[in-house]
Amino acid sequence: MHSKSMLVLGLMSGTSADGIDVALSQISGAPPRLKAKLLGRTSVRFQPAIRKEILRVAEQGPISAGALSQLHFRLGEVFASAALAGCRGFRVSPKKISLIGSHGQTIFHQGPPVDFLGQATASTLQIGEPSIIAARTGITTVGDFRPADIALGGQGAPLVPYADYLLYRDAKLGRISLNLGGIANITVIPAGSNPSQVFAFDTGPANMLIDALVSHFSKGRLHFDKNAQFASQGRSNAALVNELMRDPYLKLRPPKSTGREYYGKGYLQELLKLGRRHRAKPNDLIRAATTFTALSVIDAINRFVRPKAKIHQLIVSGGGAQNPLILGQLAAALPDMEILPSSRFGIPEDAKEAFAFALLAYETFHRRPSNLPSATGARSLAILGKISYAPPR
Ligand SMILES: Nc1ncnc2c1ncn2[C@@H]1O[C@H](COP(=O)(O)OP(=O)(O)O)[C@@H](O)[C@H]1O
Ligand SMILES: [Mg+2]
Repeated sequence: MHSKSMLVLGLMSGTSADGIDVALSQISGAPPRLKAKLLGRTSVRFQPAIRKEILRVAEQGPISAGALSQLHFRLGEVFASAALAGCRGFRVSPKKISLIGSHGQTIFHQGPPVDFLGQATASTLQIGEPSIIAARTGITTVGDFRPADIALGGQGAPLVPYADYLLYRDAKLGRISLNLGGIANITVIPAGSNPSQVFAFDTGPANMLIDALVSHFSKGRLHFDKNAQFASQGRSNAALVNELMRDPYLKLRPPKSTGREYYGKGYLQELLKLGRRHRAKPNDLIRAATTFTALSVIDAINRFVRPKAKIHQLIVSGGGAQNPLILGQLAAALPDMEILPSSRFGIPEDAKEAFAFALLAYETFHRRPSNLPSATGARSLAILGKISYAPPR
């Protein structure tokens, strides 16, 4: 089957809600011979008021149905502006772009079913109305990727493993793709594997706790620990880290996914309490949260990956790939693996997930499934997402 080469924009905002990553990609063919190349990337920050409201709502702060609807449509506008800003930056007319894949902004995610009005219910909600994006850009937009997988009994996450498999599979090398966003997740791609042997799950927090501590201690002035400057000045506190490592999430068997519902405000309060109990100064606590991130990834690899697959390379992406303390701890604890930034594969660290959603949109557009049931736990394959067509020209 041959399909023409298409220019596709991927739009992504993760649990950090730091902004929208935009990836311009050129994609052609069909799996297993699909070709995807990243041509450009940019990021657009959220306005502070919008970010604040996203975080408040994602923390399950009260909101009326009306205000939620408004936020949903408003974010559609914000995503559309980011797409258009990307086009200007890449010097590509929107008319040349065939498709947008927009992940949207997750404000709620409950993968495993829980009781709701007497019935077990799983659900997920990504907002940023794709019809607005399609109308403003004139580009057909695929959005709302996760529900189709949940409808088939999956957790609706992670979805990036499909792209990881296409981008990173190797006949001889076993690889892990590690993304350090708000949450850390890994995709395990054994050497010479077929898609059903790929597995993936969230290992725990990546930047979410670090960001929350930095915001808390700076009274909202700063949002993250740039290049681990605060953590590096903190003293390591093994007793505190050991307590964090007792987190029951780490022991749950995959498939599993997590988010702000678990590692959000409530967790921050616990962390602050723990810090006081261990007499940790702010930087000590930031260091402990940073170490916890690295150790929880390492623990997941040792516990759930090593018994199943020989891994030669660990490929790192996401904002946390810029954190030298996390990377240093990974390298020290995993001496048998080569640790490589995704840019070594032509994928800048901060564009990996946006690139993946361009790829998923391309697959949906061609009516091909792109969940990996081995990663999400779904009963079967699903064609993901909903298509909002551009207005006729
Ligand atoms: N230079 C840096 N040093 C340390 N951390 C960084 C750096 N750049 C980005 N980050 C971290 O990465 C986070 C954003 O990562 P990202 O991959 O966009 O996550 P998400 O997908 O959750 O939005 C920021 O909130 C910050 O914690
Ligand atoms: Mg982000």
